Amino acid sequence: MSASLAGRRMVVSAGPTYEDLDPVRFLGNRSSGKMGFAVAAAAARAGADVLLVAGPVHLPTPDGVARVDVRSAAQMHAAVFDALPADVYVGAAAVADFTPAQVAPSKIKKRPGEDGLTLHLVRTRDILAELAADARRPRLVVGFAAETDDVDGNARHKLAAKRVDLVAANRVGIAGSGFEGDDNTLLVHDAAGQRRFGPGPKTAIAAELVALIAQRLVPEPP
Ligand code: CTP
Repeated sequence: MSASLAGRRMVVSAGPTYEDLDPVRFLGNRSSGKMGFAVAAAAARAGADVLLVAGPVHLPTPDGVARVDVRSAAQMHAAVFDALPADVYVGAAAVADFTPAQVAPSKIKKRPGEDGLTLHLVRTRDILAELAADARRPRLVVGFAAETDDVDGNARHKLAAKRVDLVAANRVGIAGSGFEGDDNTLLVHDAAGQRRFGPGPKTAIAAELVALIAQRLVPEPP
């Protein structure tokens, strides 16, 4: 039988973030939120107390899961840190890496003779890396890596660079996998190696990932 998450608190981030440019426009990405929502649902089924921090998505809240809706990377950062303490953080959200330096107070208009528009973007804060380095670090910090190339290399780099315990990597941009579909394949990396979950429905893969997380939280025998 797989280990239970009863008595454990898990915070899961999911979906994209939207970075506003002006009152009518934003920079976003193609994340559907399905993978993070499936992880939250599986964790609740395994008995965890789950808080889902959701970017703008069109998905129902899974049974037994508490949810906070956010829009921007900055709001997601605040909501995740407000949710501490937790035993586990799963960063499934596709958080914007850059945000406009300023939000224009009124709609940006074309000007006669202008043949382009230059946007000034600044880096957002890395929620996953900051959480992994925080004094209140959850016991298990799990990142996701959405990659178009060199999935393994990039995932191993993120594992070390962000000092997280697990990185669940998937290839985006091929049919039936990644952001928008219901199916996925995850390569889950840790310090010891990697294992493959799927290909299969995101719900089944989420259950496998949650079982692995539960196993990791079981204290080692003395
Ligand atoms: N992440 C985060 N905060 C950010 C950016 C990313 O918490 N500002 C987290 C994501 O939730 C995910 C992991 O970092 O768990 C990897 O995100 P990804 O976009 O694949 O990688 P980046 O770190 O942004 O690196 P790059 O864009 O260079 O691939």
